[in-house]
Amino acid sequence: MTDQDRVFIFDTTLRDGEQSPGATMTHEEKLEIAGLLDEMGVDIIEAGFPIASEGDFNAVSEIAKNAQTSVICGLARANIGDIDRCWEAVRHARQPRIHTFIGTSPLHRAIPNLTMDEMAERIHDTVTHARNLCDNVQWSPMDATRTEWDYLARVVEIAIKAGASTINIPDTVGYTAPVESADLIKRLIAEVPGAEDVIFATHCHNDLGMATANSLAAVAGGARQIECTINGLGERAGNTALEEVVMALKVRHDIMPWHTQVDATKIMNISRRVATVSGFPVQFNKAIVGKNAFAHESGIHQDGMLKNAETFEIMRPEDVGLTASNLVMGKHSGRAALRDKLTQLGYDVGDNQLKDIFVRFKELADRKKEVYDDDLIALMRAGEDAENDRLQIVSMKVVCGTGGPAEATVEMEVDGADITETASGDGPVDAAFKAIRAIHPNEAHLQLYQVHAVTEGTDAQATVSVRLEEDGMIATGQSANTDTVVASAKAYVNALNRLLVRRDKAGPGSDTREISYKDVS
Ligand code: KIV
Ligand code: ZN
Repeated sequence: MTDQDRVFIFDTTLRDGEQSPGATMTHEEKLEIAGLLDEMGVDIIEAGFPIASEGDFNAVSEIAKNAQTSVICGLARANIGDIDRCWEAVRHARQPRIHTFIGTSPLHRAIPNLTMDEMAERIHDTVTHARNLCDNVQWSPMDATRTEWDYLARVVEIAIKAGASTINIPDTVGYTAPVESADLIKRLIAEVPGAEDVIFATHCHNDLGMATANSLAAVAGGARQIECTINGLGERAGNTALEEVVMALKVRHDIMPWHTQVDATKIMNISRRVATVSGFPVQFNKAIVGKNAFAHESGIHQDGMLKNAETFEIMRPEDVGLTASNLVMGKHSGRAALRDKLTQLGYDVGDNQLKDIFVRFKELADRKKEVYDDDLIALMRAGEDAENDRLQIVSMKVVCGTGGPAEATVEMEVDGADITETASGDGPVDAAFKAIRAIHPNEAHLQLYQVHAVTEGTDAQATVSVRLEEDGMIATGQSANTDTVVASAKAYVNALNRLLVRRDKAGPGSDTREISYKDVS
């Protein structure tokens, strides 16, 4: 394997993924995901869009300070203000990168109302400015796959001459197809002067379900950087999924002789984490990371699998970090055993956190006969009430049945005051949410309510995700409990607490709108 065979993995979960409506992550969650990406060997992390908001700026700066081996990249539109702000955030990194872009297709050129020549000049000036700040500059002609060939070749040459060392070719609307994707990169490399001195990147969206195929075809055409997100998170149908390109290159190395430096055994963990913090669960039959991706349900399959796993498996579950969910322990297990188990599962807990998780583990073991690895993982991930949360559920009681509406009585502590309300609703969850709204009146709209069983059986824990939107602010809450209604109420309150934190940070009457990378200026 030579350097020519190396494909750089550029992860944009925290920028293109996070920018998709509803996938908003908190500051701490962004830092955690960036840490996991860094640890798994992702080459470049696009940490955010620093001009978009104070929050984005702070997250990119802190990720830049913490990064160990990954290059940290920030996004900037083609203007001096964006690029300066981006540099301010990424400059703390050991290896910073500025990624600047402009829409070059006819439809995108019409937005800033620039002529082709004016846009070419803007590209020259902005890439030059970025290059004067940072010696690692990436440039993207947004909607490249719908840009006229002559103009695309012309602006790519300008960006290379102005000092960009990576040229990214985005398929912004998921329009291209594999043969075209390969040809476009091949032709750019063959015909644009200076192309041999830069890395070409591919950035595909999945609107026609071809993002992974298009990315791999681009690599066959000569691209050496794939832009992708964990679980394919992203607007509309999402971006190329990191796990798919990494595993495709591994499993079919015979016909795709390129390699990445990603540690694939870390895939499952980060996939679950991104699903939880983004509130976008992974579909059961999703390639590589779906719950059923390695399940063999039918009789024929099971028989074949028992004889030889390779009958129906082209990769092993452990290759992507999936291990069988083991029985953990029961209610007599001690604190040291719990710490050991958490360490094995990849959680490094301090004494105080262990104390808290031990109490919750004991509560769970009292309710549930058998506690599995997956139960512990759910416990660790649940957005449980923190001591300083303004809203806390103290107790709740629900009456429901076939005879009429359900009724919920919820007791909560709100900024230290104890309040109890009863409400009826269309089912126990609706009644509980109404009682919580009576205690803490709010205008938040419920955008998403999702329930998943962690393990099998009627005593399985339910993990619940709730996404709320209020005045343009979005917050996702999670909880896990053997009682689905309790998990639902706690997830709802978790999301409300997050909205309160976001509102406090924004300040009274402040404009909470954030700039999107589509707001061209
Ligand atoms: O899809 C796209 O074109 C983008 C650019 C900002 C690179 O995300
Ligand atoms: Zn994109």
